[in-house]
Amino acid sequence: MRRKAWKWEKMLLEITDLNKHFGGLHAVRNATFSVEENKVTGLVGPNGAGKTTVFNMITGTIQVDSGAVTFRGADITRVTAQERVRHGIARTFQDVRLLPRLSVAENVAVGVQNQPGEGFFQVLFAPVHVHRREKETMEHVHACLDFVGINPKVRNEPASNLSYGEQKLVSIARLLATDSRLLLLDEPTSGLDEASLDQFRALLAKLISDGRTVLMVEHNMLLVRELCDQAVFMATGDVLAVDTPEKLMEMEELREVYFGA
Ligand SMILES: Nc1ncnc2c1ncn2[C@@H]1O[C@H](COP(=O)(O)OP(=O)(O)O)[C@@H](O)[C@H]1O
Ligand SMILES: [Mg+2]
Repeated sequence: MRRKAWKWEKMLLEITDLNKHFGGLHAVRNATFSVEENKVTGLVGPNGAGKTTVFNMITGTIQVDSGAVTFRGADITRVTAQERVRHGIARTFQDVRLLPRLSVAENVAVGVQNQPGEGFFQVLFAPVHVHRREKETMEHVHACLDFVGINPKVRNEPASNLSYGEQKLVSIARLLATDSRLLLLDEPTSGLDEASLDQFRALLAKLISDGRTVLMVEHNMLLVRELCDQAVFMATGDVLAVDTPEKLMEMEELREVYFGA
């Protein structure tokens, strides 16, 4: 389903000594870790740990106070959010953020970047009109929806008609439409029922077979162990450890947070 040929990198993304303050709060402190290409990396830690803030600094929706973000060996710390999508980094939000009145297919079409100045960002942050849907764009949209397993029958319905789990899949289809190789998923499994969770499991495996790289915030450590190759454990702004999920689950600090032990 991938439309681009990629030169393979071992470390797709590296963040080095990232810092972010909000007023007097040091929300992220010297965060350093790497994301290996074509793997699933989990980002774990209690509420307020700084996970979403790290996501925002990787995507460029907030500026870093200090530190560096390197993608495919290039320093992108000062690159705009919109430009980073073009580099191949895209994210979902903790809340789903589909445009409820647009159809399912139109929601995915906003991710397609054929038309300069009409991409993901304009429509996501300043919903205008999604027009000029050329044949090629719509073919790509349907390929993305096929990939995540959304039934063709519902694709012209308003996005708000879909179940929560389906809407989450559509938000991932929208990322695929950007042709991004690094997908940042903020709590993709929260609120999913068992059946939707099974769909997500299968989708994640497909994304990896397709050559994508995933960094995801996940609260359920059992799912992290099942789905992630490595994980980054944050608490109160610090990266406490980067290791395999099994190793992290042996850490006293992590056990206290997750299992109260
Ligand atoms: N835009 C903001 N303005 C002020 N404080 C913020 C902002 N975003 C996050 N914070 C604070 O920074 C800390 C880390 O938040 P966040 O990155 O959302 O954590 P997590 O995603 O791990 O729950 C929290 O204490 C939160 O209240
Ligand atoms: Mg968060």
